[in-house]
Amino acid sequence: MRIGNLNIDGILFLAPLAGISKRPFRLLARQFGASICYTEMISADAMKYEQDKTIRMLDHAPDEHPIGIQLFGSCPENMALAVRRIQEYKPDIIDLNMGCPVRKVVRKNGGASLLKDISLAAEILSAAAENTSLPVTVKIRSGWTSEEDVYLEFGNIAEKAGIAAVTLHPRSRMQGFSGKADWSKIKELKNEISIPVIGNGDIITPQDARDMLDSTGCDAVMIGRAAMKDPYIFRKIEVYLNEGRLIPDLTIEEKIDFALEHARLTIDQYNDRVGTLMMRKHLAWYTKGFPGGAGLRNQLMKVESYVGISDCLMRYCKNRGIATDS
Ligand SMILES: Cc1cc2nc3c(=O)[nH]c(=O)nc-3n(C[C@H](O)[C@H](O)[C@H](O)COP(=O)(O)O)c2cc1C
Repeated sequence: MRIGNLNIDGILFLAPLAGISKRPFRLLARQFGASICYTEMISADAMKYEQDKTIRMLDHAPDEHPIGIQLFGSCPENMALAVRRIQEYKPDIIDLNMGCPVRKVVRKNGGASLLKDISLAAEILSAAAENTSLPVTVKIRSGWTSEEDVYLEFGNIAEKAGIAAVTLHPRSRMQGFSGKADWSKIKELKNEISIPVIGNGDIITPQDARDMLDSTGCDAVMIGRAAMKDPYIFRKIEVYLNEGRLIPDLTIEEKIDFALEHARLTIDQYNDRVGTLMMRKHLAWYTKGFPGGAGLRNQLMKVESYVGISDCLMRYCKNRGIATDS
């Protein structure tokens, strides 16, 4: 598919996920078939200072392309400056977050709070699009409350501002993650605007991806929580869309191999202790469904080093007679 002047080989997008879609996780998602990954959201205001923590969030590997860097912010001038600076880090897309429901972000009028102030949102969108030659995309929810949908109006102002694609997660800000994403809104948006629409929300299985594409006509699908728990979902969806067949889950050995690879990449980027602490939640997700997994997870929640992770997993395999490569 094409977004602005960028060709993307595939239609499976990894969602921006704060605390998760860091370089190591994105590399795994790409290996497993994601067509493009987004960074976690980065503050446009913080780009003024380019502190180490911010720079680290922009960091990506050469083999990660195409990659989207996501920004949030509520000040058009800061957004203009941020997109100019971001260009130096050579992403393929800059995405603007206008859907994040988290209090810390909306309190500063960023994320979903822009769904309540469409004229400010329009200024920010124009400021971003006018200050970079990269495609700028925007990610929104359907409205602040379920009674005040703004996604169609938003789609139109985005298109007018020169935005190259819109991602819609059709829940309101007030809904958080409750209820169900209303995919009929993705279809309405697709019929309303002529730039690409990326559908997002509640894709859990390969069949869900097929259903979203068929029922909405959206140009691509974006996957968040399901990928966080199982990045292999991209391969499963890819095969299902191309060949109509469901491939089995990875085996326990394969899951352990990629869990260890994720841990190594994370520890390389941070350090042994910090990387290990960051890995605990991923390890809990990756070992879900393992026989006797509760005991294993209990131990994994206490590990403090790569050796600790590896010992724990190898002990588990040995006790269960499972052979691994790692
Ligand atoms: C842990 C977590 C972190 C998230 N961080 C971001 C973020 O940084 N930027 C953003 O636009 N959305 C963020 N989201 C929302 C997701 O990108 C996505 O829109 C949402 O999870 C719905 O898709 P899903 O049903 O496939 O999970 C986050 C969601 C979760 C669960």
